[in-house]
Amino acid sequence: MIDVGILGATGMVGQQFIALLKGHPWFRTAWLGASERSAGKLYREACAWRLPSPLDENVARVVVDAAVPDRAPKLVFSGLDSSVAGEIEAAFAKSGRIIVSNARNYRMESTVPLLIPEVNPDHLQLLKAQGDACHWSGHIVTNPNCAAVVLAIALAPLRQFGLQKTLITTMQAISGAGYPGVASWDILGNVIPYIGGGEEEKIETETKKMLGAVNKGAVDPHPVVISATTTRVPVQNGHTGVVSIALEQKPDAAAIIDAWRTFRGEPQRLELPSAPPQPIVYLDESNRPQPALDAARDGGMAVTVGRLRRCPVLDWKFVGLGHNTIRGAAGAAILNAELMHRQGLL
Ligand SMILES: NC(=O)c1ccc[n+]([C@@H]2O[C@H](COP(=O)([O-])OP(=O)(O)OC[C@H]3O[C@@H](n4cnc5c(N)ncnc54)[C@H](OP(=O)(O)O)[C@@H]3O)[C@@H](O)[C@H]2O)c1
Repeated sequence: MIDVGILGATGMVGQQFIALLKGHPWFRTAWLGASERSAGKLYREACAWRLPSPLDENVARVVVDAAVPDRAPKLVFSGLDSSVAGEIEAAFAKSGRIIVSNARNYRMESTVPLLIPEVNPDHLQLLKAQGDACHWSGHIVTNPNCAAVVLAIALAPLRQFGLQKTLITTMQAISGAGYPGVASWDILGNVIPYIGGGEEEKIETETKKMLGAVNKGAVDPHPVVISATTTRVPVQNGHTGVVSIALEQKPDAAAIIDAWRTFRGEPQRLELPSAPPQPIVYLDESNRPQPALDAARDGGMAVTVGRLRRCPVLDWKFVGLGHNTIRGAAGAAILNAELMHRQGLL
């Protein structure tokens, strides 16, 4: 077993790490780090546990450490707030730790892989130049923004048709805002047409990096032009995106659906423990996907797509959905670490 640490262990994403790592065949939660507010407390006292699965008793008794590397194991997952993740993650990487992070701070750095194992496993080669560029003896690998991941996975099998333009409007769950997140007065019975922290820009830039190709040690972003509008809706879990696309070639609906249904990647080939059998599940029902029914599919790791039809403005339109704290955060990072383990990078 490989001991792992969790930075930001008390947050929404940190809780998902703890839940998903329970019973993991390779990784064992051995260290928890959070802010000075939590350090020194038992995890059960430091954390407002918000998941439907009960808190693991072994973890509940762990004393939370400060967010410093001294006692942390080599592999550390990060669910740190982005306002502090920059400095803390760099300090861990400098001390030789391998950080597999959810935070946005290093995603667009040229030597930091922004990884979805099904989409761009070859981007891990960026790590070769990371040590010299950043003066770290360890590494940082990141996973994408929780809405960008849904878009990137849905678009990945369509690259073969010559992706040109994408419009996306998201309906994002409240768990995406952490805990306590958006005040109930603001979100109940409401739609908020703005998500702070550069959410739209993240979708527009991260997706292009993930779909891009490595060329001479750096990523050439995919040329697709993306325009995103992000909204917060009163849904607990699951980010939905309504998407229109323009393609250079003119595939029919059957070819697009076939591309989604037959799409497989390294996690499926290597049978990684957190890999969904199919990264993309296309549903024929005209009222799907729905967060309440589809976000938790295959342990929250599959992206569900539906409603493919002609778009009178671009070429095609569809609806995509993914679980934001699993495929969009903790589950994504664990899958990244599983791929790194199989590639001998841990
Ligand atoms: N929620 C999602 O769907 C989602 C998806 C993808 C990515 N992310 C990213 O993942 C990260 C965590 O998100 P979240 O929703 O889990 O946020 P959250 O619930 O607010 O949790 C934030 C965590 O950061 C810790 N923290 C805050 N200030 C700190 C400091 N000065 N030093 C050390 N630790 C500190 C908190 O510890 P205390 O409890 O001790 O304050 C807590 O464990 C963010 O960067 C977010 O953008 C979130």
